[in-house]
Amino acid sequence: MKKIAVFPGDGIGPEITAAACGVLEAVADLSGMEIDMQQGLVGGAALEAHGDPLPEESLRLALSADAVLLGAVGGPKWDSHPPQLRPEQGLLRLRKGLDLYANLRPVQVWPQLVDSSPLRPELVLDVDILVVRELTGDIYFGTPRGTDIQNGLRRGWNTMVYDENEIRRIARVAFDAARGRRRKVCSVDKANVLETTRLWREVVTEVAEEFPDVALEHMYVDNAAMQLVRCPSQFDVILTGNMFGDILSDEASQLTGSIGMLPSASLGSGRGMYEPIHGSAPDIAGRDVANPLATVLSVSMMLRHSLGSTGWANQVEEAVRTVLDRGLRTADIASPGVASIGTRAMGESVVAALRQGGGA
Ligand code: IPM
Ligand code: MN
Repeated sequence: MKKIAVFPGDGIGPEITAAACGVLEAVADLSGMEIDMQQGLVGGAALEAHGDPLPEESLRLALSADAVLLGAVGGPKWDSHPPQLRPEQGLLRLRKGLDLYANLRPVQVWPQLVDSSPLRPELVLDVDILVVRELTGDIYFGTPRGTDIQNGLRRGWNTMVYDENEIRRIARVAFDAARGRRRKVCSVDKANVLETTRLWREVVTEVAEEFPDVALEHMYVDNAAMQLVRCPSQFDVILTGNMFGDILSDEASQLTGSIGMLPSASLGSGRGMYEPIHGSAPDIAGRDVANPLATVLSVSMMLRHSLGSTGWANQVEEAVRTVLDRGLRTADIASPGVASIGTRAMGESVVAALRQGGGA
């Protein structure tokens, strides 16, 4: 029996996780895999119920599970809350509490959707990138941090910090992943200005010696942001820190047509957590229009990385391919003037395609 903790979160979170859980249930049904899903509260939902974005019992639930599925957190309702009482803190504490230091964000272009990308088809057709984002360090967690008033002026500060062990372990994840791909790692930093990332570059270069069969290139983050839209097919694995990875993965999502297509896996020393890379999209919440495919594809990553089933991971991807081949589109990936379907219908279509598929 595999225990899956499900945290729907806020905004569109409940809708997209419901669709993805439907897909996971179908896999369990078809494969005979025994799955026990238990829901917990995180983010704004937890703030409303318990006054804490990650109540003790939510962390306990996550720690007791074999894998975690998360929707999204945040919303305008909590924007004016102090930092510790923001929904995002729930997610960040969950990542830290589960020691999920390695965030894998595959950027795969679906040929059926090349016309949805703001870039020309010939630029994006061959894109197949894996962003390996460090997830438990950097300026997200560094101290000191804070705000105060000095000489009548409001100030704010944060600390970008990495130690060599944190860099080494995420670098190894990237080089390992590259071995199963095109054997290229592009490490992204700002070593021309920031000491933290000079150390990053040094340590990544040392780790590269353990992987002589993988080619390493270093790139400054400003250039990387440009190269991602100038010539994205040059990249195989992009290795970078928490903040640069956050920014570059949103940028890279546009190569695929929609951020609604990008799943992620957060891995560390124990169980993994799986979530779409997008946010809670409060503007479309509760309207059955959000694209659930990023979350469905996150379930595929869960099957691969936490549930030991590459076969069913592939079947879920195959089912997504089938629904796209059939021309089914949520609003974010529909061409202008073409009818779209809702969140629920998209989830059900993936389930139907799975059931028609050959099994793993
Ligand atoms: C992401 C999100 C989060 C992040 C937010 C919600 C804290 O943007 O997963 O990319 O910044 O990591
Ligand atoms: Mn982000």
